[in-house]
Amino acid sequence: MLLEKMLQSQGFGTRKNCQQLIQNAAIKIQDDIITDPKFRLDLQDLEFEVYGNTFQYREKVYIALNKPQNYECSHQATHHFSVFDLFDDVLKNRGLQCVGRLDQDTTGLLLLTDDGQFLQALTHPKKHVPKVYQIKTIDPITDEQIQQLENGVELRNEKGSFAATEVTRIAEHELSMAIHQGVYHQVKRMLAAVGNKVESLHRGQIGQLKLAELPEGEWVYLTEAQFVAAKNTDINYFQTL
Ligand code: URA
Repeated sequence: MLLEKMLQSQGFGTRKNCQQLIQNAAIKIQDDIITDPKFRLDLQDLEFEVYGNTFQYREKVYIALNKPQNYECSHQATHHFSVFDLFDDVLKNRGLQCVGRLDQDTTGLLLLTDDGQFLQALTHPKKHVPKVYQIKTIDPITDEQIQQLENGVELRNEKGSFAATEVTRIAEHELSMAIHQGVYHQVKRMLAAVGNKVESLHRGQIGQLKLAELPEGEWVYLTEAQFVAAKNTDINYFQTL
């Protein structure tokens, strides 16, 4: 691939911006400064420097973020920060998108990518990738509410019934459960449908990918194994982050 095209694909601006970077001697590959925008590159395991900062060539990016509170999953956040503010311009220029949304007050695992197929694979309603939430509730959780969540509840303006799996009471006001769709405010509405109310919500797992050590507000690129795990519907084995 041409150097100017590679830089553009990685988020370094328009083709013209990339040509300028190259002509300004900003690009170093294996200790050589390359000033020819048409220089041909082998992309395999490619690392390059831009003004002394090292980057790895990535055809697509797959990112896991431990989302903090008060961040919205939209590019133009209205009342809070945008999760996209947690990334530098180079990543933002690649057209990162959230894989499903978390509410501004929900914390936990959020995936972001510029790969439309991956996004579709995880969010398509027919794919049923489970998402596991830890939920703190305003009222004590009763056995009857657990039963109703497992049996399935109806949600206004949504077709069908919404059931949770792996429902576990952790404390009087705390439970964890997996949902298999991703309709608007699904967990909050399911808890409301059984007569309770969510006080706080945290997503701990998507597919087999489980949040463990990643601190709030921080993000990592997914490894190959984590990428595969995120799409897997059997949640009992997992890869941690
Ligand atoms: N369900 C909700 O109600 N909110 C979220 O952020 C995620 C799932």
